[in-house]
Formats: sequence, C-alpha cells, structure tokens
Amino acid sequence: YRKLRVALLGAGAVGSQVAALLLRHGDELADRAGASLELAGIAVRDLEAPRETDLPKELFTTDAESLIVGADIVIELMGGIEPARTNILQAINSGADVVTANKALLATHGPEIFDAADQVGAQVYYEAAAAGAIPIIRPLRDSLAGDRVQRIMGIVNGTTNYILDRMDTEGAEFLDVLADAQALGYAESDPTADVDGYDAAQKAAILASLAFHTTVPLDSVHREGITRIDKTMMDAARHAGYVIKLLAVCERIAGDQESISVRVYPALVDRSHPLASVHGANNAVFVQAEAAGNLMFYGAGAGGVQTASAVLGDVVSAARRHIAGGVGVGESTRANMPIVPIGHVTTRY
Ligand code: NDP
Ligand code: HSE
Repeated sequence: YRKLRVALLGAGAVGSQVAALLLRHGDELADRAGASLELAGIAVRDLEAPRETDLPKELFTTDAESLIVGADIVIELMGGIEPARTNILQAINSGADVVTANKALLATHGPEIFDAADQVGAQVYYEAAAAGAIPIIRPLRDSLAGDRVQRIMGIVNGTTNYILDRMDTEGAEFLDVLADAQALGYAESDPTADVDGYDAAQKAAILASLAFHTTVPLDSVHREGITRIDKTMMDAARHAGYVIKLLAVCERIAGDQESISVRVYPALVDRSHPLASVHGANNAVFVQAEAAGNLMFYGAGAGGVQTASAVLGDVVSAARRHIAGGVGVGESTRANMPIVPIGHVTTRY
C-alpha cells in the first residue's frame, strides 16, 4: 500500500484512543482505506502527562507546526479555538486533508476553514463534531441532500444528559455527577461549555447549517443550560410524568418568507416519549424530512473511545480520497472474511 502520513494533534480523552486504535488496527484500516496509515507523531502540551492508552513515547512532540509539515491527513483533537484554527489552516494550506471533532471551532470559524479548504481542493471531515459516535453529519450532508429536512430535534450533549439522568434516577447532586462526567472523559475541558448549553448550541448550529443548506451563526442560536435545574424541579417533573432533558431543536418556520429557528433549552419530556429513555451519556437525534419522513439516530454522544470511532471513519474516508487522487471517496473490500452459515448463529435479541 501507498503510505499516508497521519499527524495527530491532541492525546486527551479522544486523541489517545484514536492513536491506540490506529496503531492496533493498522492492517485492517489499511485494507479498508487502500493506504497504509502511518502515525507520524502526536502533538501535545505536556510530554510528561499521563495518557489513557499506552503509546510509544517517541511519537510525542510539543511542536505541532513541524508535525503538520508533510502530513497527508491531520487529525485535530486539541479542542478550543487557538491554536486549533491556525494549525488546521496550516494543514489545509500545506495540502493535507483535515479530520476534526472541534465543534467550538467549526461553529464559530467554519466558513473560514471550509473556504480555505475549497480554495486548495482539500477536505475537512467532522463526523465527531456532533453527537459523538453517532453518524449524523454524513446523513444530513449526503444521504438527505436530495430531501428537504423540516426539523431536527434531540439530545446532543452527553455530559448534561448524564447529569440530568443521574439526578432523575438516583437523586444525585449536580456537582457530584458533573465531577463524574469529567472523570469519564465526557465533559469539555471547561465544563461550563456543557452545562451552560454552549456545546449543544454549537452542535445545533452545525446540524442546522447542514440540514437547511445555510450558515447558522452561533449567536443566532437561543441557548439555555441546565445549571438552574435542581432536585425540586426534577421531583416536580417526575411526579407530573415528565423527565427534564436538554434539547436541541432546529426547524423551518413557515411564513411569507420561510425562516429557521435553532434553540437549546431544558424541556419537559413525557416519560412515554423515546427521548425519555435516553440514559447516561447517550444522545438521540430525530430528523423529520419531507420525503423520508421520520428518522432516528441513537448512540454514544460522548466518550473517548466511542468518539474515536467517528474520527477514524473520517480518517479512512480521507485516505480513500487521497488514494483516489482527491476526487470521489474510493472504496475497498476485504475478500477473505469467513462467513458463518446463518443456522450457526444462536444469539437472541
Ligand atoms: P482533552 O482535553 O481530553 O484533550 C486535549 C488534548 O489536546 C490533550 O492531549 C492536550 O495536551 C492537547 N492540547 C491542548 N492544547 C494544545 C496545544 N496548544 N498544543 C498541543 N496540544 C494541545 O479533550 P478531548 O479529547 O475530550 O476532546 C478533544 C476534541 O474532541 C474537542 O474538540 C472536543 O470538543 C471534541 N469531542 C470530545 C468528545 C468527548 O467525549 N471527550 C466527544 C466529541 C468531540 P496535554 O494532554 O499535554 O494537555
Ligand atoms: N462534551 C461533549 C458532550 C462531548 O458531553 O456531549 C461530545 O461532543
């Protein structure tokens, strides 16, 4: 296989899992990508910081800019605006494709980054930037491109769902469960981004931009967080047959001139509604489209290894595009997989 150099920026909750999976499943990923994915290095702030996965020390550097030089694919998993923005623009301008999970950056500087990529024919992949492991970016951008999305509604922040769920089911205290969400790698490095609804608002802006084929500025998203939700409110909701969930709603509003509304707020959800059964750090997104009708996407909305799945899917797509000469997505299959006759499968669902 042709070798592609992969530069990884960040080895925190997500980056350390991406690196470990890339190294562990290198051969399989090469078969799927049609290219050998060589992890050229990992940029971090602190070379001595403990890592969640066991990674070769010689891969680490604090010099992100040098690492980007000569890379075919740059994976940005540092988070925040700077230096992520500058590093991504450097990667694009040096001919690399970019994979990022950075919704804070895309919701604020998306147009600048996508324009820079368009100018040089590079591609920016960001499946992990909304709803963690759940494939929702590609369905909205590609699969539903021929339809007319009317409404997106759901839970798009894992940390707040984890907190609200434990407050509801265990009567847990807000600050205790927030600390657990941080320890589990769900929360942003500044968790006010989660609990004040900024993270969900960024994701809502990204999803609405894709769904409605426009640019939704972050400051046009109505945002409320969950910090005012206390035990009394939780109990009152429960007694009335509801559960409190932080929802993101993006919808077309009919009128003389059609408009859109994008909002994030804690809402009362009837306990019989499917969203009431979304527990822990899971997310669920309902998409209503004119022709397709109602679609539902559900799964892990946060977590290092779960999010790494979405990131690596993007890396394989980027590699296939590279191999195909920058056009199309390319495709490859493994020919040697044994197939179990159906009669031997005893799993019960
Ligand atoms: P972490 O805070 O756990 O990790 C950030 C990593 O980036 C660390 O390794 C840190 O280095 C490195 N880093 C930060 N700033 C710099 C810098 N200036 N130069 C070099 N390295 C730097 O973040 P997460 O892994 O949780 O998140 C990464 C991205 O993924 C974010 O954009 C986040 O929003 C997104 N995301 C996270 C999810 C999750 O469940 N955690 C889910 C979906 C998306 P060091 O370790 O040395 O401090
Ligand atoms: N902090 C984010 C969340 C990570 O809890 O949903 C996933 O985007």
